[in-house]
Amino acid sequence: MTTRYRVEYALKTHRRDQLIEWIKGLLAVPFVLHSQPTAVFEPSSETVEQMAANAQRRYAEIMRDVENIVNDHINHQKAGAQDRSKLRLLVPSVANFFTPLALHDAFIWQDQRRCISFRRFVPPSFNDIRLVLNTAQVMSLTRAGPLELVTFDGDVTLYDDGQCLTPDNPVIPRILKLMESGSRIGIVTAAGYTEARKYYERLYGLLDAIHASNLPQSSKQSLIVLGGESNYCFKFAGDSPDLLKLVPRNEWLLDEMLLWSEADITELLDVAEASLRDTVRNLRMEATIVRKDRAVGIIPQPGQKFCRETLEETVLIVQKILEMSPVGRRLPFCAFNGGNDVFVDIGDKSWGVLACQRFFGGIEGSKTLHVGDQFLSAGANDFKARLACTTAWIANPAETVQLLDEIAELDEIQQRKTR
Ligand code: IMP
Ligand code: MG
Repeated sequence: MTTRYRVEYALKTHRRDQLIEWIKGLLAVPFVLHSQPTAVFEPSSETVEQMAANAQRRYAEIMRDVENIVNDHINHQKAGAQDRSKLRLLVPSVANFFTPLALHDAFIWQDQRRCISFRRFVPPSFNDIRLVLNTAQVMSLTRAGPLELVTFDGDVTLYDDGQCLTPDNPVIPRILKLMESGSRIGIVTAAGYTEARKYYERLYGLLDAIHASNLPQSSKQSLIVLGGESNYCFKFAGDSPDLLKLVPRNEWLLDEMLLWSEADITELLDVAEASLRDTVRNLRMEATIVRKDRAVGIIPQPGQKFCRETLEETVLIVQKILEMSPVGRRLPFCAFNGGNDVFVDIGDKSWGVLACQRFFGGIEGSKTLHVGDQFLSAGANDFKARLACTTAWIANPAETVQLLDEIAELDEIQQRKTR
């Protein structure tokens, strides 16, 4: 029993999103009751269109109900009583919402594209619901007025893992369009470098395109890079050879971040490094330890690929050790699985997004969207951004492009309404 519990706990809970799983469970009921799998071999009195219309109505009703339960949670939040909301009882891990979610309309929107209601054998899936939640979020954001700040993760969100943002990347014209319409852009990545040149090498496609564009100078200034989760800030600078200029920490650090002492930073990284070294030895990993001034990590030796289980084990161990250490309680940190590496960074993306909001004059969480691929509760680094703003959970760079197209389309609809 104990072993089973531990396996469930350690290898499952952190790999599940409770809100999505809960919605998936709710939608499974109409699927079971209304899908008609036997119709593929037995004539049925209902056409597939009738079945789909019926299923869509039932699914959409449930999404409307969930939307209302989220609104009730938001009302509790406003009264400081979110712990007493019905949603919190149903989904204990649910956090705060920065805006309502247009779940009913988003379901219809995604159903028109993914034909969820037409399916007879495959019920609404994790990915269906993840995409409905993304659409619901951007619908609510665009309906409430212009999106003031969009922050993007780097690897897997803007470009494939470990790659660079090259000039042919279809995300570039979409980001330029956002900038043209007045949105500020933050690239909030774990990749932590002290020199502008390194970021230029990763992001040159976008930076060159901004430089060459006919955007007014002030719009060009509306892009910053927050590296190492929340450790290095660079702003766009057309006159610098790398098109980026380091912003001194005293110009962008939040007051709370000023309290992070160098002694604590060194101590936390020492504890993390010792744990990583231990795990590398125990799991016989062919790894190199990388120590930086604000991070420590393990990367594979040339030609090595770590398996998922090894990476997760490494993250969960270092995270637990840091959580239990005195310095880990004083200083925020982020331990995550980067796909074929593990890093522990000082700070996390909630601080990265908050720093971007502050840099641009105090933008609110309800006017900010963070787009990222890592939203599991442990071993993932975009997760913490949920503390600072609304979020969209994408699975690959193509989905980021789709999401930006959705925002543009929804914006267009909104503007037509207000004209
Ligand atoms: P992100 O997806 O943009 O947040 O980037 C994560 C990746 O950046 C990691 O998987 C690492 O490969 C890489 N990386 C490079 N330097 C650092 C660092 O200092 N901390 C964390 N990740 C780093
Ligand atoms: Mg990523």
